[in-house]
Amino acid sequence: MSSTDLPPSKLGTKEHWDDVYSHELANFAEIGDEGEVWFGEDSVEKMVDWALDNVSTDPAPYILEVGAGNGNLLFALCEAGYAPEKMCGVDYSADAVKLAQAIGRSKASSAAAESEGHEELPALAKADKITFAACDFLQEEVPRLEGMEGMEGQEFGPAVWNLVLDKGTFDAIALAGKDESGRAIADRYPARIGRVVKPGGMFLITSCNFTEDELRARFATSDTGLFFQ
Ligand SMILES: C[S@@+](CC[C@H](N)C(=O)[O-])C[C@H]1O[C@@H](n2cnc3c(N)ncnc32)[C@H](O)[C@@H]1O
Repeated sequence: MSSTDLPPSKLGTKEHWDDVYSHELANFAEIGDEGEVWFGEDSVEKMVDWALDNVSTDPAPYILEVGAGNGNLLFALCEAGYAPEKMCGVDYSADAVKLAQAIGRSKASSAAAESEGHEELPALAKADKITFAACDFLQEEVPRLEGMEGMEGQEFGPAVWNLVLDKGTFDAIALAGKDESGRAIADRYPARIGRVVKPGGMFLITSCNFTEDELRARFATSDTGLFFQ
């Protein structure tokens, strides 16, 4: 199935996600509920295991999650040993960013409190060092992190991320319908991913709307510069 075959739905609109995260942000403030984990904890575990098998933690890679929501995947990667200072989650919903930042602060202070009296701090004590930023990935630039360097001998470009992650974001964008020229909005997404992955870097995606073959056909193209491993 191509994204042009998927009928537009509210899940493809920013209004929907703003609404979702404004509720989740209020819930977190009220009762500490962190909100939805898309595709469940199993898929988080699977993505973290894949990362550990394929992307070394040393030297620490730069990791970007596109459409990070409440940040659950990046917190799990932080817990698994990836450096939080080198991780960034972007989302076009400002309340998603606020929620992920609030959860990061809360995880960091709980982890620090739990480890009082121990010599070593648990990884999550630095969960608040993950950068979460508002960005419409289809049209805006992802922020640079401190210490990032461009490719040698070239002007600093966007292709600086060793690992780029998508858990459910392409699925949402595939429901966004068409632009004024009649082109599916989702058709812009693979090339936007291709331009941020560092040469030699990886893109890992979990999707519920597309099969592996469909994802491969969309993302492993000469347009994106990505190939299937
Ligand atoms: C299905 S949710 C997944 C959230 C998160 N990845 C998770 O696994 O919990 C899709 C996310 O994509 C975000 N999103 C959709 N279109 C986006 C865009 N153009 N730029 C940035 N984020 C976007 C939504 O705000 C939402 O947080």
